[in-house]
Amino acid sequence: MRTLKKLVLIVLVLLIIVIGGFFALTHQPAIEPTAQPPAGSFSQQQIDKGKLLAAMGDCAVCHTAPGGVKNTGGLPMASPFGTIYTTNITPDIDTGIGRWSYEAFERAMRHGVNRDGKYLYPAFPYTAFTRVNDEDMKSLYAFLMTQPAVKHQPPETALKFPFNIRAGIAAWNWVYLKKGPVPEDTTKPPEWNRGAYLAEGLGHCSACHSPRDQFAGELGGAQKFAGSTLDGWSVPALTSKTSAPLPWTAEDLYAYFKHGFSPRHGSAAGPMAPVIHGLSQQSDADLNALASYVMSFKDGNAKPGDAEAFVADKFKESKFALDHEGYRLFEGACASCHSDATGVKDSMFGVRPQLALNTNLYSDSPNNAALVILNGIQTAATPTTGTMPAFRHNLSDAQIATLLNTMRAQFGLQPWADLPAQVGKLRKDKEPGAHRLSAH
Ligand code: HEC
Ligand code: HEC
Ligand code: HEC
Repeated sequence: MRTLKKLVLIVLVLLIIVIGGFFALTHQPAIEPTAQPPAGSFSQQQIDKGKLLAAMGDCAVCHTAPGGVKNTGGLPMASPFGTIYTTNITPDIDTGIGRWSYEAFERAMRHGVNRDGKYLYPAFPYTAFTRVNDEDMKSLYAFLMTQPAVKHQPPETALKFPFNIRAGIAAWNWVYLKKGPVPEDTTKPPEWNRGAYLAEGLGHCSACHSPRDQFAGELGGAQKFAGSTLDGWSVPALTSKTSAPLPWTAEDLYAYFKHGFSPRHGSAAGPMAPVIHGLSQQSDADLNALASYVMSFKDGNAKPGDAEAFVADKFKESKFALDHEGYRLFEGACASCHSDATGVKDSMFGVRPQLALNTNLYSDSPNNAALVILNGIQTAATPTTGTMPAFRHNLSDAQIATLLNTMRAQFGLQPWADLPAQVGKLRKDKEPGAHRLSAH
């Protein structure tokens, strides 16, 4: 009996040493609060640059609660481990980052540790922001520190055990956080390298577009940009695995980034709309660089294809009798806006996506198309794209399913299985404004 007890004792002591050692190793000191930087510490040029960089990094998209004041935090982000709330990043000295030195800010952005020395959850994309260079990091700090300070305490994040032990994130970082800049690839042109810097850094494109493993770490290699899911939306692949019926070209990507719309593919709705809002403000040179980088994940030999001929071919023959319910629903509810063959019509309602070219109708998942019909597009990515009404109160689950599968059949695609049930589920789970973003 005594030998058994001794054995248990040895195991316990070892455990305490290991756990103690882990906490000692992962311990991060608090960084002393500083006085707020005096007015005039930053040049106007630096502040203006920081503003553009903040738009590129979508800081306000995540750090603003629905209906809340910009950057005061409180957006609930659903993660597999519970709800994480974003923080106040205005320079308020009590509830925001007003007492953060540049050193503290830089540590949070590149190492995921806050001023108090607490590890931050990777719902905050510091795994991407660690790539941001010193000059840009300083400009971001200059911009944030010169914004209005707003006193607002967002709800505290309280995950369940063991996820509430923030030191555990150190182990996650050990596996998934690759600190430092994107290594320059000298075999590629400077434009490509600039695009990589933007996409892998502030743009954090892979946070949404790459699938994740069971520990919520982004998959790389062949899985990079291979598509994922987010808050009910299916995030399309940016690789040749895309379901887009016509291959993307660099010009298509530029138009999509600049205007939130590519006549040959469709528009940016859902979680991509606020991303475009930030991208559309960037310089043409940077958007072309981003396009060049994204293009390198696609098959470079693909022929762009003739959009008009492609659409004409899809409508060459009607697949059903003209009084078929699907056609009637389309004529009644959609044709007034989605009828022309070119995709773009200059009208007060904005652009007109040509649905025979829309990635979402060719996707394996019906979610994006169904969500757009249920909830409409209330906030356009840019003023030129326009909005679309919600049909949740006009069309039943069965009608939306018939409409979508009729279009699929007309375009020569298999029907989506169990569609009425899936539309019903999305109708219930994804009320507009329930919450807009969740962890990836
Ligand atoms: C995808 C959503 C998302 C984006 C985009 C984002 N953040 Fe955050 N950020 C978070 C979350 C969530 C937290 C809190 C994490 C936690 O509590 O562990 C956070 C925390 C922070 C913190 C630590 C604050 C504190 O009080 O501990 C700073 C600083 C910060 N973010 C700055 C930024 C900046 C600057 C940008 C834009 C370049 C940005 N964030 C973009 C989600 C985001
Ligand atoms: C917050 C999540 C999120 C982030 C961050 C994000 N995307 Fe997206 N992206 C989406 C979603 C969701 C869609 C589908 C939108 C739709 O169909 O209306 C999309 C669509 C796209 C498309 C259109 C694909 C197609 O075939 O229709 C491109 C191109 C794209 N994103 C590129 C990017 C790039 C480049 C970045 C980084 C600068 C980026 N995205 C960052 C979520 C995101
Ligand atoms: C009042 C005009 C209008 C009507 C009616 C309308 N739409 Fe739209 N639709 C738009 C506009 C404008 C966009 C692009 C908006 C944007 O992205 O900001 C759009 C976008 C879409 C998209 C593409 C979304 C994406 O992410 O690429 C789909 C799919 C769609 N509509 C389907 C339908 C269907 C099906 C109907 C009929 C039930 C319908 N629309 C009725 C104006 C309309």
